[in-house]
Amino acid sequence: MKILRTIAEVRAAVREVRAAGGAVGLVPTMGAFHEGHLSLMRAARAHNDLVVVSLFVNPTQFGPTEDLASYPRDEARDAALAEAEGVDVLFAPAPAEIYPDGFATTIHVSGITDVLDGASRGTFHFDGVATVVAKLLGIVHPDVAYFGQKDAQQVMVVRRVVRDLDLDVRIEACPIVREPDGLAMSSRNVYLDEHDRRRAVALSRGLDRASALAATGVRDGVVLTDAVRRVLSDAGIEPEYVELRSLTDLSPVAELDGEALLAVAARVGGARLIDNHILKASS
Ligand code: PAF
Repeated sequence: MKILRTIAEVRAAVREVRAAGGAVGLVPTMGAFHEGHLSLMRAARAHNDLVVVSLFVNPTQFGPTEDLASYPRDEARDAALAEAEGVDVLFAPAPAEIYPDGFATTIHVSGITDVLDGASRGTFHFDGVATVVAKLLGIVHPDVAYFGQKDAQQVMVVRRVVRDLDLDVRIEACPIVREPDGLAMSSRNVYLDEHDRRRAVALSRGLDRASALAATGVRDGVVLTDAVRRVLSDAGIEPEYVELRSLTDLSPVAELDGEALLAVAARVGGARLIDNHILKASS
């Protein structure tokens, strides 16, 4: 596996494979790899000739009071894990390579970024994500780019950028990977102490409870979101949001009909956690 720092080096590596007719897969990450990231790398490895993983803690998607400075960073560990998954290129640029002096462009996706994490964290967050992902797609020109479904709204934002800007790439969303007790894997789980780690499982338990209700025919959005709130409340967790939203435009869903996104965000001790289920109306 090559560790590359510059855009020119990545372009040269990709050009070689492309010239031979090979397919290129990109896994954009901010490092601190866990099984969720590794599952994206495996999906990319199974379907592409060249697998590029980007490792860049993107400063523009963090707010001034968020965890940019403390975000877990261990490039040597990440590189060893990526290499073990058969990754070909780890693209780990310095911030100045991505945002050189004079950088002046921001991609803003309107509408779907106004709710959930866009409302909770601020619109800067998805502006930062959309802009850096567009850059990574422009640098690597992958056939397929792989994202985790845990960040369901991020996947929708990226798909909208790709569609609106006619980018020639397929976006693949891979299933959420969970700890044995159900907690969704996240690089931020390292912020949880033992007590909070036990409480944090309430997010997935609450979503399980709502999914079970939907399976018995419950369709009322308030009943479904209240089921999550109750499990969180029993664990002493006050959510930032628990919402049932449309999978096409993230508009609120009052009555489950077909499929909808049930999304939750909550601060548990030192960690801000998100999780979601896609609920299906039972017929
Ligand atoms: O999901 C992430 O790790 C980041 O938001 C991404 C997509 C790598 C952009 O910085």
